[in-house]
Amino acid sequence: MCYESECCGGRGSYRYRRFALGFWFGLAILAAITVTVVLAVGYGRVSRLSVAVDDASLTRFTVTATSVAYNLTVALVVRNPNWAMGVTYRSLEAAYLFNGKRFDSVTVVSSGYEQAARKTAVFRLSSGSDAAQAALGSAGEKEYRKESDNGGVFDVEVDLSGEVKYALHSTWCRVEARCPLKLQLAASGAGSVVFQKTTCDMLRSSQGGC
Ligand SMILES: *[C@@H]1O[C@H](CO)[C@@H](O)[C@H](O)[C@H]1NC(C)=O
Repeated sequence: MCYESECCGGRGSYRYRRFALGFWFGLAILAAITVTVVLAVGYGRVSRLSVAVDDASLTRFTVTATSVAYNLTVALVVRNPNWAMGVTYRSLEAAYLFNGKRFDSVTVVSSGYEQAARKTAVFRLSSGSDAAQAALGSAGEKEYRKESDNGGVFDVEVDLSGEVKYALHSTWCRVEARCPLKLQLAASGAGSVVFQKTTCDMLRSSQGGC
């Protein structure tokens, strides 16, 4: 009797131990698969940053064949759409162009700037010059006169270029964006001018994993 029950008890706990072992082993495999899937989905595929200009104002704009006098503020909105990956910036620069010719550039972020996953950063750029050097030539002057006569709405392009790295990735990815702005020249002190929010075109990267 005693012997039998011990025997049965022994078999029972052996079965239980085997079941528990199998259960925990299965759970561990499931956990490993889950972690792998989360890492693969969250970190495997990079979604590129998106850029827009939410606000901009031009309070001075005078163009000659060789220079531009201007005052410009730009609210640049950069969104990191990745839900898991933060972004580290090595550089980000905004160049200002009129009639396809660059007349100035400003640094948006300095090296080492971090943007967390799913975060949107707003950079308020403010710059101006009495005579920024530019090779606009007579074509630039002509375009300036045309747009001046046309109500003073100027086509100024903001070109972004920089390099970023996504979390757990080792490549520095080039970021290039073009933001074509329509800017109504506003006399300083005059009422605010409505700016149409502009989405920037992101240039496709040919780098692998970027
Ligand atoms: C342009 O900016 C300069 C200094 O940054 C300022 O002195 C000047 O008044 C501004 N001009 C206009 C028209 O906003």
